[in-house]
Amino acid sequence: MSTNVLFIGDIVGNVGRSALKRVLPALKSKYNPHIIIVNGENAAAGRGITANIAKEFFEWGVHGITMGNHTWDNKDIFEWIDDEPRLVRPANFHESAPGQGMAFIKAGGKQLAIINLQGKTFLPPIDCPFAKADELVEQASQKTNNILVDFHAEATSEKIAMGWHLDGRASIVVGTHTHVQTNDDSILPGGTAYLTDVGMVGPKEGVLGMERNAVLHKFITQMPVRFVVDEGKWHLHAVSVQLDDATGKATKMQKIRLTEDEWLLM
Ligand code: FE2
Repeated sequence: MSTNVLFIGDIVGNVGRSALKRVLPALKSKYNPHIIIVNGENAAAGRGITANIAKEFFEWGVHGITMGNHTWDNKDIFEWIDDEPRLVRPANFHESAPGQGMAFIKAGGKQLAIINLQGKTFLPPIDCPFAKADELVEQASQKTNNILVDFHAEATSEKIAMGWHLDGRASIVVGTHTHVQTNDDSILPGGTAYLTDVGMVGPKEGVLGMERNAVLHKFITQMPVRFVVDEGKWHLHAVSVQLDDATGKATKMQKIRLTEDEWLLM
């Protein structure tokens, strides 16, 4: 018996959300996921997520949502995060923070623990993600073999280190936040499916999803500018992983990369 997990990278703004809506049915028929998880921390115009957006994701067939450093950008989240058991924010936020860092997602007769952690390198100071990972993976393993960790972090080295730290203890360790899919997908010796960054779903011709002229202006002049989510053609990045239910180890892993142009030809 196996569990197929589809993890889709950071959904950025309106372009990302509509790409997800359009492509999800095809991804479902091609990869047969029992459980679909998305990173939603950039879903509302690049900054945070709203109750309505989360509701739409669930209606389209998403089972769980992970977040990151933009979790609190959209203030409406404070009104519903404690009532939404399918959404996780970084577990190493301060202990007083609302919401939860781990959730048990059940779908299609399968169960998957999802854990969200945020890196501490090139990001604001935060509790140690490695120590928190130890604590939560141990807790999760009391209930299920199938454990996914979304490590929302900037530094590739910190993400790779987390992959090794959890090898053989978590089923899947994937990175998010940098929005560029890395080419290092690998099932580590202990059976953990690892990918440094899954990549994003959103505008392809901007800079990490933002309108490129504003970003260029800032790089060139160092003057403050307002970044807005780009419009136009999208690209979508995800990863599909098959887990052995008896052990929680990964048996198969496939990166997914699709552009709007390719999609239109399909
Ligand atoms: Fe982020």
